[in-house]
Amino acid sequence: MKILKETVDTLVLGAGAAGMMAAIFAAEMGGRVVVIDHAKAPGEKIRISGGGRCNFTNRHATSRNFLSKNPHFCKSALSRYTPEDFVALVEQHKIAYHEKTLGQLFCDHSARDIIAMLLSELERKSVSVKLKTRMTDLEKTPDGFRVSIEGDGERSEITARHFIVASGGKSVPKMGASGIAYDIAERFGHKVTETRPALVPLTFATQDLEAFNALSGVSAPAIVSHAKTSFQEALLFTHRGLSGPAILQISSYWREGDDITVTFLPEVNVFSRLKDLRTARGKRQIQAVLSEELPTRLARYLAPENVFTGNLADQSDRQLQRLSEAIQNWRLKPVGTEGYRTAEVTLGGIETSGLNSRTMESKTTTGLYFIGEAVDVTGWLGGYNFQWAWASGAAAGRAISAV
Ligand code: FDA
Repeated sequence: MKILKETVDTLVLGAGAAGMMAAIFAAEMGGRVVVIDHAKAPGEKIRISGGGRCNFTNRHATSRNFLSKNPHFCKSALSRYTPEDFVALVEQHKIAYHEKTLGQLFCDHSARDIIAMLLSELERKSVSVKLKTRMTDLEKTPDGFRVSIEGDGERSEITARHFIVASGGKSVPKMGASGIAYDIAERFGHKVTETRPALVPLTFATQDLEAFNALSGVSAPAIVSHAKTSFQEALLFTHRGLSGPAILQISSYWREGDDITVTFLPEVNVFSRLKDLRTARGKRQIQAVLSEELPTRLARYLAPENVFTGNLADQSDRQLQRLSEAIQNWRLKPVGTEGYRTAEVTLGGIETSGLNSRTMESKTTTGLYFIGEAVDVTGWLGGYNFQWAWASGAAAGRAISAV
């Protein structure tokens, strides 16, 4: 087979959120930029994100919303490409969007609008995107990289001055995740911190699951806590365990063997409320009263009829205290997570100590960059992970276009 040879300024591995953004910026001053991806389409995770509407950023994103061995590393990139910068691009492309809650911005119509926007920017900057293409070899040369690629029955050898690794983490292999970024990093002398599934549903032992089965589909606002970290959002019972935003958030902090605590009716002092209700509405059945505050199936689970018999007036202070503990201090021990199959992101990754926080360039190898989810910077749920992808991509792309 004939091997085509091509020389470019920048080669980007991965046509996801970070890779496309980096390519747009790298091509700013007219440099030749090529993006390769083994998937059939670019931005597959953007397409499925935010329930198909893509929570593309969060207005309030700061370094406090990210987990990393070095919590300061993300500050530089986040401050130089802000949520307002991305919103300005979205508005320039006349994409309708709305704020849902807590600063989370979503497309009104479809996540595909964001992919189309990025593709039109890439086209405008004459960036070539080669899909269904895999890297078969990577070599360092004195002034850059030689990368062998194969796709569509063709083999090529690309010589590039800059090589940006934007191939993401390990989450959702079905969508193209491969973990190749970690192998490349280690090959060039970088350390990779422990990686684990994050923003992922938690799973439980059989006896808990039997209870959750009866509650499957029930959702309620709650505070979910692990050690000193808490999130107040919705919690969802599923037949596999617990999910919903509050659980996904805490999953990034939870470790095997740890408990989590669930507090329903977080704005209420349940014990004193129950005592007041006992005085005011003592003739009512306790489960019926609780069902006015919580989903009926949850109320019946937390106040089982064989334990809380009779009316409210029949309940002692001790019983009411016991019930309020069940509602507001429910300790649970997950046994695991649903894993990378459903995790929205990968926690951990390429150690930030090996990267320049302003440019994302490798400290071991000139011209090599790591961006996006592959790096040990992991956002909370709520548009933060895309903001990191845009910001780290912009940091690398800008550094290259300025050379
Ligand atoms: P990303 O994974 O997007 O891109 C990597 C690219 O590299 C992919 O196109 C892949 O095919 C390619 N690649 C991988 N290995 C390769 C190889 N060996 N050769 C060639 N190409 C290779 N975040 C958020 O902020 N708001 C949201 O609404 C959501 N919603 C959401 C829903 C779901 C279901 C998931 C799974 C994730 C989210 N996220 C999210 C997280 C968000 O999708 C994630 O943080 C970013 O996509 C990360 O961007 P990257 O570009 O780093 O990786």
